[in-house]
Amino acid sequence: MKIAVVGTGYVGLVTGVSLSEIGHTVTCIDIDLEKVEKMQKGISPIYEPGLSEMMSKNIEESRLYFTTNHTEGFNNAQVIYIAVGTPENKDGSANLNFVKQVALDIATNIEKDTIVVTKSTVPVGTNTIIKEILHKNLRNDVKVSVVSNPEFLKEGSAIYDSFNGDRIVIGTESKEAGDTLEEINRPFGVPVFRTDVKSAEMIKYASNAFLATKISFINEISNICDRLNANVEDVAKGMGLDKRIGDQFLQAGIGYGGSCFPKDTKALIQIAGNVHYDFELLKGVVNVNKKQQGLIIDKLLERMPDIKGKKISVLGLAFKPNTDDMREAASIVVTNRLIEEGAEVTAYDPIAVKNAKHILSSEITYSDNIKEAVEGSDATLILTEWNDIKSIDLSLFSTMNYPLVIDGRNCFALDEMRKHKVEYHSVGRPVVSEELSGVLN
Ligand code: UDX
Repeated sequence: MKIAVVGTGYVGLVTGVSLSEIGHTVTCIDIDLEKVEKMQKGISPIYEPGLSEMMSKNIEESRLYFTTNHTEGFNNAQVIYIAVGTPENKDGSANLNFVKQVALDIATNIEKDTIVVTKSTVPVGTNTIIKEILHKNLRNDVKVSVVSNPEFLKEGSAIYDSFNGDRIVIGTESKEAGDTLEEINRPFGVPVFRTDVKSAEMIKYASNAFLATKISFINEISNICDRLNANVEDVAKGMGLDKRIGDQFLQAGIGYGGSCFPKDTKALIQIAGNVHYDFELLKGVVNVNKKQQGLIIDKLLERMPDIKGKKISVLGLAFKPNTDDMREAASIVVTNRLIEEGAEVTAYDPIAVKNAKHILSSEITYSDNIKEAVEGSDATLILTEWNDIKSIDLSLFSTMNYPLVIDGRNCFALDEMRKHKVEYHSVGRPVVSEELSGVLN
């Protein structure tokens, strides 16, 4: 099948590369010439395990192309995927300008019948708008069908997820277009669920909102565990044994970040509001997450009320491991606050520093070595559970000025920490300390 994918952000690029891997001929279209030229050489603009290798292989085997030219990209395609961004408007709603522009570009360029597939996360009803734009601007003799085909990929494991996902959702009013999409996706070997367009659009938002709810729920439980000296990890394990609950997405921490949960939860509150429904539960989820991102600072200030001039090392900046994505990362809230309070911050992240430098305060010093970042500091804060952070030699903390470790991702086993001279605070688990020395100043 000949496919065009418009937009080579995270979703578009992974979609295009995966579709080429299963044998389709894919042309990825983007307006950014510099980015396109790099991608033509097999250089991925994002860090995603396995992506560069798969890109190079399919370029070499002449199944994957990149261009800035819409007309060229659309001309041969039987199916066009829309995968451009839907950034957040000031009021939390999704900005559809890019999506609408692509629909117009498709309508004014295509010369034969085509299936248009929406991959971008768009509010319920958007595919109807896309259909209207297409029909208003198409040549009379050309027909298009519109399909909603939301993505459920996780950053850091997107390539794996493409081939091992739980479901592929296909929402369309056209049986023929639905059958074609099913055929395109068959080699992935992932179960297909077919429904109408609006329900498909809603499945994406409802899934992300539900997962975000699980996270905020367990974070609330962790805060209660903190006060009761219970262990949230055991609580989550015990809950997860109930198959109705499941054990995933119950890891307490300093909240969710990234490009999807924060944006999609707010957008769904807006979608509900537009039909005069107050989504109270989801508003709570968003508020809990906001509070949770600041938790690590609350814990630090409780132990060390005056951090002015103190050396604080921050381990992990990306919103989660295995990605260089800094969008809505807790590290933004945490480091801004540290700098505001006058701390001297040294930060470490194995991959995200380049992106972090554009987003975080210029007063931060970066270190490419965990040991160097931690040595001599007055407190260490852990914000992302990267493997190299989880596997450090715990005796490293004894090189700190005072071994106060506040771990926002529960990276270390309490028993292991007990073997070292360290004051260890984590999320929803008892504090580890030889003897709690009063307020540190
Ligand atoms: C998410 C969805 O999982 C994916 O299906 C959708 O297509 C896009 O949004 P992603 O944002 O890549 O994927 O990351 P995910 O692994 O879901 O984690 C999101 C955030 O939640 C991260 O900040 C992570 O640290 C946090 N999280 C996740 C927790 O705090 N606890 C958990 O138990 C799981």
